Amino acid sequence: MSEVRIEGGRRLHGTVKINGAKNASLPIMAAALLCEGKTVLDRVPRLTDVSTLAIILDSVGLSVERTGPHTLELEPRDEANCSCPHDHAIAMRASICVLGPLVAKRKHARVPLPGGCVLGERPVDLHLKGLRAMGVDIKQKGGYIFAEAERLKGARIYLGGPHGSTVLGTANIMMAATLAEGVTVIEHAASEPEICDLADYLQKCGASISGAGTHTIRIEGVNRLEGCLHHVIPDRIEAGTYACAAAIAGGEVTLQNVRSDHMAALRDVMESMGVEFELDASTMIVRRKGTLRATDCTALPYPGLPTDMQPQLLAVLTAAEGTSVVTDSVYPERFTHVGELLRLGADIVRQGPQAVIRGPSALTGAYVRASDLRGGASLILAGLGAEGETVVAGIEHVDRGYELLDEKLLGLHATVKRQGAPPYQAGQLQLPFHKRAS
Ligand code: EPU
Repeated sequence: MSEVRIEGGRRLHGTVKINGAKNASLPIMAAALLCEGKTVLDRVPRLTDVSTLAIILDSVGLSVERTGPHTLELEPRDEANCSCPHDHAIAMRASICVLGPLVAKRKHARVPLPGGCVLGERPVDLHLKGLRAMGVDIKQKGGYIFAEAERLKGARIYLGGPHGSTVLGTANIMMAATLAEGVTVIEHAASEPEICDLADYLQKCGASISGAGTHTIRIEGVNRLEGCLHHVIPDRIEAGTYACAAAIAGGEVTLQNVRSDHMAALRDVMESMGVEFELDASTMIVRRKGTLRATDCTALPYPGLPTDMQPQLLAVLTAAEGTSVVTDSVYPERFTHVGELLRLGADIVRQGPQAVIRGPSALTGAYVRASDLRGGASLILAGLGAEGETVVAGIEHVDRGYELLDEKLLGLHATVKRQGAPPYQAGQLQLPFHKRAS
């Protein structure tokens, strides 16, 4: 197990380049299953989740090759096998994204129920409801979803659930609908920027989609899609995490390759804490000089505050003066980081979907363990603000969603050292396709 050692108390300064978005790259990689010919995907981050999905896609006959540090080429090779490998699929949530494309293009699919970060229950009922509405026969047995349809039929599908819209559910149905007969309308669709990026990619491939970015998406099915060149949008969660690093450690950090319009809710919360932002076309300067102020915030579907920033913000709020209440309406159970933050000396009380944080706490370094991706990032941020050495174990969770987080923090003059091998070396071209599916 890899770990990161952080010597806290150093102010950050410098520039960090933000990668393409993980949560845009993954569904777009799956969408290449719908196409004839080659897709070239640029600005794809080097992450273990990307490698795992590449292995899954390769096993169902879509060749995936990394031809540049952040470029993937995806091309259909053989459409006979429509069954996803179990162990890789249960390692990640986004593996569910192959279900819609496989059944729409190849008429059947066998996909394991997905895994991913443990954020409470993460059902896929809305994905299945949408596909059933399009005429897909779905059965569940032995941990697998079996899906079959001669040709999908357009339908009007309401995709709202108990916690609002579903991002990957919207992605799955939108992808499936591109090759369906007739018109599909998704109501209560997710409006996240990653959905818009997927729609942009599909439209360049020849799909007919309108309304992406709103809560009603209309898709008119076509007979064929052709792969294309696409540049993935910047990762608003990676950018937000470095903004939080500047906030908890103090100092000034310049983020390059950002879409500040995708980060309005986060900026609003951080500004109310006393963090300053300067925005340019694709650059964001984040500055924290004085003390941080407590603030209340709620994670909501876009354009609200992203749940994927809740753990990092919670870490920053331990350093703020006063009492803050953080609510997660998307994943009410997403608080595994709280117990570990307590080890560092934070004063946090969990009450159902809320955490009450009393600050400022003088955090002191300790051994803590990451048990999910954003929770792990939250512990690293807390380590930056703590006195003495913090050891964060379980860094493989963080490697699923951050490319070289430790090296980038080093570049911002933090004192951070990884123990154990990174998932790949800086500059390495090939993805770690070390465990190809058989
Ligand atoms: N939900 C249902 N039924 C469904 C699907 C979802 O009840 O069929 C519920 C979920 O349990 C949750 C809420 O709806 O309470 C929203 O879940 P959503 O489906 O939107 O999540 P997701 O699409 O599975 C993506 C991101 C997550 C991010 C969420 C919310 C990817 C690969 N994952 O997951 O990212 O937290 O949207 O924005 O895009 C991360 O990057 O760390 C991460 C967990």
